[in-house]
Amino acid sequence: MQIKKVAVIGSGTMGAGIAQWFLQQHIVVDLIDQSPDQLKTAIDKIFKSLDSLASKNKITPDDLKLFKNNLRATDLAGIHRDVDLVIEAIVEKLELKEKIFLDLDRSLPSKTIFASNTSSIPITEIAKNLPNDRKKNFLGIHFFNPATIMKLVEVIDGFETDREMSKNILNFFNQKGKVAVSCIDRPGFIVNRVARNFYGESLRIVENYDLEKIKSTDQCIKQVGGFKMGPFELMDLIGIDVNYSVTESVYKSFFDEPRFRPHKLQKEMVSSGRLGVKTKRGFYDYEK
Ligand code: NAI
Repeated sequence: MQIKKVAVIGSGTMGAGIAQWFLQQHIVVDLIDQSPDQLKTAIDKIFKSLDSLASKNKITPDDLKLFKNNLRATDLAGIHRDVDLVIEAIVEKLELKEKIFLDLDRSLPSKTIFASNTSSIPITEIAKNLPNDRKKNFLGIHFFNPATIMKLVEVIDGFETDREMSKNILNFFNQKGKVAVSCIDRPGFIVNRVARNFYGESLRIVENYDLEKIKSTDQCIKQVGGFKMGPFELMDLIGIDVNYSVTESVYKSFFDEPRFRPHKLQKEMVSSGRLGVKTKRGFYDYEK
């Protein structure tokens, strides 16, 4: 499968990382966000990261120039009509994701592949109001954070997804050095479903905000389980708000299954604005 141009909708933590990964594959990227400030922040972040790779000789000066030239900030209406693939990475809200795809369906040809980077919402549900032709070209492509580094990509077939197309996407990622796995369209797919208990049990162990307990839980998991990051460190990296939304979504989708129930400490952290690394304070303090 040839992918030469991609549009990434949402330029937050994931959108910026996904855009940068595609740029580094010599692919042209249209980057979109409803917030002009966020779009500017994302482009600065991508350029800074590419500059740093060039300074370490990980990319050539020619590639640095090319990658920067290949990135274009635009809006939904401005997306190149000949993009091969659109990846949506906006907030984890079904109705907002549905609206983006309905809008794009009107402006882009039905052969354009549409993908959501959702962590937990079933692909079939996001695509439900799209025309049948589009449903065939709709799938989940779930990157992990940071998208430029983490090799795993979950490729999710919706009910109507053309299996041949999703197999080609899977092969595309594997050829580009990712480890792509095919997933069944169930809430949380593979990793986020298993991970609900990684976070949930840890939150239940700590119960209330207590830095000593948080540190010792992270320490134990890393020492004994061989994990690179503990659950609280990882929630801070992901964004406690994002992680909370995913937990709520998986919980609801499994008909209030108790083992996926969100924890009040997650809600308290979100209400207090301590969202993790991105706000410089989460379970840990990143001010320094
Ligand atoms: P984020 O909050 O960092 O970024 C979301 C971006 O979408 C923001 O910049 C916001 O301005 C923009 N946005 C919101 N509504 C929009 C709209 N209607 N049109 C255009 N832009 C819009 O969120 P993050 O963490 O990047 O997550 C994005 C998606 O990726 C979510 O579905 C999340 O579940 C998923 N995900 C998140 C991971 C993580 O570690 N944070 C890992 C893998 C998937």
